Order: sequence, then structure tokens, then C-alpha cells
Amino acid sequence: EHESSLRPQMFAQYIGQKKIKDELQVYIKAACQRQEALDHVLLYGPPGLGKTTLAIIIANELKVSIKTTSGPAIERPGDLVALLNELEAGDVLFIDEIHRLPKVVEEVLYSAMEDFYVDIVIGQGPTAHPVHFTLPPFTLIGATTRAGLLSAPLRDRFGIVAHMNYYTEDELSKIVERSADIFQTLISLSGAHEIARRSRGTPRIANRLLKRVRDFAEVAHQKKVDEQIVQYALNLLQVDDHGLDETDRKMLKIMIELYNGGPVGVNTIAANIGEEIETVTEMIEPYLMQSGFIKRTPRGRVVTQAAYEHLGLPYIRK
Ligand code: ADE
Repeated sequence: EHESSLRPQMFAQYIGQKKIKDELQVYIKAACQRQEALDHVLLYGPPGLGKTTLAIIIANELKVSIKTTSGPAIERPGDLVALLNELEAGDVLFIDEIHRLPKVVEEVLYSAMEDFYVDIVIGQGPTAHPVHFTLPPFTLIGATTRAGLLSAPLRDRFGIVAHMNYYTEDELSKIVERSADIFQTLISLSGAHEIARRSRGTPRIANRLLKRVRDFAEVAHQKKVDEQIVQYALNLLQVDDHGLDETDRKMLKIMIELYNGGPVGVNTIAANIGEEIETVTEMIEPYLMQSGFIKRTPRGRVVTQAAYEHLGLPYIRK
């Protein structure tokens, strides 16, 4: 019952992201027919939508191995070379948070991606010498929250760019049912749908809420998770019926109560709610924006009328 057992291993088990899935299946088939490495793939979108899962599936469908790392974990060009050295022809290298690669590493990656070689300098001072490594053809899969965080030269070296979208309630509902099945937990259709409705379009959140709701059901000796126990558990967890959690509501309330609904700069918001700027821009804001609770303007973020109404606060048109 680990997080990993929930991960679909092949496209046939993967729910949602139909456009990406359909496209990738064509490119994978073509690469297999030509017996070539798949072109490099950039996956971008909010956290929790299944970028890592998709990378694993791509490798499985290609019938190759995958090595996984992340941008901040690769500190020097030598670290990258060590990883690339372990690849066999056609393998996948998955770099999560690729926007956080150090600049010196990114520059080494260009020739690796384009022509499958790297030139690096080994040693320091008088013993420093250049070394040329030839690499097997491989597929780089990079994941990032927003394509705009990448430098143009890096972005341009990905032949396949896939934008992941939030999942629909029906898709999330199917994912919840699938996960419940793996957990051997009975769940009603309306129970699954209620979890889906409150999961911010995000499978990772849906699966987390399912686990918590299952805890409540088991402790209550209730054999089947139904809509009522979902409501009960999620209300206790303070996940509201739009899926907003305490942090989301805190952000909206601070913007309203301290800044009269904005515009407020993101730095100011982050400082006030005690979160990193990146957490606000990559995790909190995108869903509030997608739900129509905040808007971006050139002068900062503003709270919408819908947010006032959702929080039960009086809205005075400015
Ligand atoms: N679990 C998490 N994400 C999933 C998805 N997209 N399809 C099936 N199961 C999942």
C-alpha cells in the first residue's frame, strides 16, 4: 500500500491527460519502429498531476530503464556525467524540477541532448584538462511547474513539450475508485465523486484525501466509504467544498483583510502567510487562479468577487 503501488505503470492504466497520452503513444511507437531513442520530452504543469508517473510509463512503454534525479541534486557537471555514463542506448534520464539545474550543468546538458557528447574540464589549476565523453543516444525527460521557468536554449532542445492540465472531476473520481480498489476499500460512487470534487484537480491530493477518509471509515467500523463519511472527514480536515485548504483560505483572507483585496505583490503575500514565494506561485496560486478566486494583474494579485462570496465576506465593488 505504498504511494508507488498506486502509480499506473502503463498508459492503459493511466486516467486523464488524454491529449498528451494520445500524442506520446504515437511518438513512442514511431521511435520503437525506427529503433531509435525517443526525442527529449518536457513535461510541465502544477505539482501532483503525475509528471513522474508519466516519465515512468514512457520508459516502460519504450521497454527501457529509467534513471531519476532532480535539478537541485545535480550540483556540478561531473554529477551529470556520472548519471549519463550509466545509461544504455535508448534509456530515459528523468530530471524533476529541471528549472533548478545550476547554470554550469545546464550548459553541459546542451551538447548531451543535441549530439550525445559532453566536454568537461577535470581537475583544477595546473592539472586541469578537458575531457570528451561520447554518450549513448538517450531520452531526457524534464519536469517543471512552468515552461517559462526554463531558459530558451534549454526549452528549445526538447522535441516534445507536453502541458499537463488539472484533471476533471470525472477523471479524479475514476482515479479515486482505482486507488480504493488497490487499497481493497469499498467506496460508493458519490463518495468517490465527493473526494474528487474537493481535490483541486490533483490526483496526489485525491489519493491523500482517500487515505485519510479511509482511516475515518475504518475507525468508525464502517465497511464502505460513502458520501456522508467523506463530508464528515473532509470537514474535519478543513478541506472546504471547493477543495481549498487552510493555507488557500489564509492567503485569500490576508489579501482581503490586510490589503483590501489587492493588488498585492506575491512577495508580500508569501511573507504574510509564512510560505516560500515559490510555494505561493507554483502550488497555491495556480489553483486559486484556475478556480477564479484570484486574478493576476500587472500591479499584483487581486481577489475576485467569487472569493469574497466563497468566504462569506461582504464584497464592495471598487
Ligand atoms: N494515480 C495517480 N494519478 C493517476 C492517473 N493519472 N491515472 C491513474 N491512476 C493514478
